[in-house]
Amino acid sequence: MTDLSGGPLVLGLESSCDETGVAIIRGRELLANEVASSVDLHVRFGGVVPEVASRAHLSALIPTIERAAEKAGVELKDVDAIAVTAGPGLMGALVVGLSSAKALAAYLGKPLYGVNHLVGHVAVDLLDHGELPTPAVALLVSGGHTSLLHVEDIATKITEIGATIDDAAGEAYDKVARILGLSYPGGPIIDKIAQEGDPKAIRFPRGLTARHDMEKHRYDFSFSGLKTAVARWVEQRKLDGEEIPVADVAASFQEAVCDVLTSKTVAAAQEYGVGTILLGGGVAANSRLRTLLEERANAVGIELRRPRPALCTDNGAMIAAVASELIAAGVAPSSLDISAQSGLPVSTISV
Ligand code: KG4
Ligand code: ZN
Repeated sequence: MTDLSGGPLVLGLESSCDETGVAIIRGRELLANEVASSVDLHVRFGGVVPEVASRAHLSALIPTIERAAEKAGVELKDVDAIAVTAGPGLMGALVVGLSSAKALAAYLGKPLYGVNHLVGHVAVDLLDHGELPTPAVALLVSGGHTSLLHVEDIATKITEIGATIDDAAGEAYDKVARILGLSYPGGPIIDKIAQEGDPKAIRFPRGLTARHDMEKHRYDFSFSGLKTAVARWVEQRKLDGEEIPVADVAASFQEAVCDVLTSKTVAAAQEYGVGTILLGGGVAANSRLRTLLEERANAVGIELRRPRPALCTDNGAMIAAVASELIAAGVAPSSLDISAQSGLPVSTISV
């Protein structure tokens, strides 16, 4: 058992996509978590525009750091370490956060931890629920990634056992929202509208679940066929001059996504013999995914851990949380000349 009470005071900066996140934690205790989103600037483009996101980070970062320090009631000179997302993510956006973190670390004379954004989505749960029983299986579902992970040690050993072979789950939500004429980001809107619809109204395909696919892609996912099936179904209705039952389409699409995600995750947990499943990433905020995974995990005696919805989407707390675990495990800090890595693999926990 690692006791992190009274642990290090860590400042975490996140800037990999469209949220500028700044948090301050002590050990595993969350003191402040401030997020400035540039999502409104991207809405009319239907997705994140990298250059717009970088500029927004640049103007939001310092005021967001000031707000977080004020909320936490600490001065920056008192932090023990500075954590920052080193990757994966949008290159320009990452560079804004990383350069700021390096400047702060150099000026304040504090150690820098360049950490993996994806590991942050998993580690943030430790702020809500304490130490993770390991080994565990983690389902990581975000706008850019969908992976199944075998977590032996959150600070030192994470192995990817499966991943999407095409679109990420969040990407599928965003694309289907677009098909249905809903705004960006699509996940939260579909989640809400689906509650009014019938999940059994339309039987959409469950990617990579047929027997021959399972042989090669047991723990992998595919969502592009599902997105196409939704597009075709909607197109046909329009050709037939019929109205689109948006809530039924949203609920049926969501059921297909959640059915595959949860069945493969529970199977992986059983086959790897773990007692705990951890859910993380922006799509982990989805109400149906949270309930269905809990039902299916509990039915076979496996515990589900999932962070509160507000900590599922991008934030600075997840980045600080990784650094806290790295410090507790005695992992050395990063050098001040590390580079941002837009394609950083999930198995590289820190750089
Ligand atoms: O992890 P995240 O905040 O950013 C990335 O690292 O990509 O994930 C963003 C993704 C978006 O695709 C968004 O539509 C999806 O998470 N998302 C949701 C929900 N809230 C956010 N998807 C389904 N249901 C939600 N409630
Ligand atoms: Zn993310």
